[in-house]
Amino acid sequence: MAFVDHAPAKVNLTLAVRRRRADGFHDLESLVVFARTGDEVRFAPGGAGYSLEARGRMSADAGPVGDNLILKAARLLAARVPWLPGGAFTLVKRLPVAAGLGGGSSDAAAALRVLARVAALGLDDRRLQDAASLTGSDVPVCLAGKARMMRGTGAELGPVLPLPRLPALLVNPGVAVPTPQVFAQLGLAPGLEGQADPAAALEQGEEGQPRAGRAGLLAVLQAARNDLQPPALALAPVIGTALRHLGDTDGCRLARMSGSGATVFGLYDTCRAAAAAAKAIKAREPGWWVKPTMLG
Ligand code: C5P
Repeated sequence: MAFVDHAPAKVNLTLAVRRRRADGFHDLESLVVFARTGDEVRFAPGGAGYSLEARGRMSADAGPVGDNLILKAARLLAARVPWLPGGAFTLVKRLPVAAGLGGGSSDAAAALRVLARVAALGLDDRRLQDAASLTGSDVPVCLAGKARMMRGTGAELGPVLPLPRLPALLVNPGVAVPTPQVFAQLGLAPGLEGQADPAAALEQGEEGQPRAGRAGLLAVLQAARNDLQPPALALAPVIGTALRHLGDTDGCRLARMSGSGATVFGLYDTCRAAAAAAKAIKAREPGWWVKPTMLG
């Protein structure tokens, strides 16, 4: 019997770098949401150990399967859960790679969710959470798979007010930007405090808080930023071109980079406006990855 899970694209609506830590990592504050679009992970239990086959139009860019985070996550969990069966993973890769959409992290999180089902573990199981955070900084939020305020290096997750769904356009200009290079380019001196994320106001304190309205949410997002955008732009100026193309489309309410790039997103009031924007950008840049979707 095969098990299947969806691995949605992660989008950082905001990302504030608060400080550089002694271990070289950075403490962040980031409002993370997920798109409808994503990869797919399948698992067929059987045998000892884990194997992986990658398919799909983006699989050629995904690098050697031996380095894939799905296998890393599965092995980390198996080391903690002795009764976990081995088996064969298949990844259907649709998201661009090293793109700021957390594709590899979301694939690993989907693999962990599948293994949790197979081994009857709850999603809040400590062993699952540990395997997630040891696999990569973005894996814990991808394991949660829903809107969260992410803090620290990624393992601290806070609930956010119920957010309205946001019609969006994802645009990847075809350059892979390695995350460590973007943080290095940022060059934040140790001990220097970055500015807080205005989107932290959306964190849910008590039950029964009102839903964040659309206009209020957009105002908060417009006042916020992605601190990794300037260094990523310095490394890959084409990201600036992508942001300008989004800004030129009708009805674009916000254009910003996700994560460490190079994917940028535009927010729109309607799916129709996002689809029209996709057409306009495709006409200008036929080789780019352009995907209308819904964020939430
Ligand atoms: O954890 P992950 O493998 O995604 O991190 C990739 C690299 O990005 C790290 O080696 C580090 O250079 C940088 N990073 C960071 N601070 C974070 C997350 C990642 O400096 N919070």
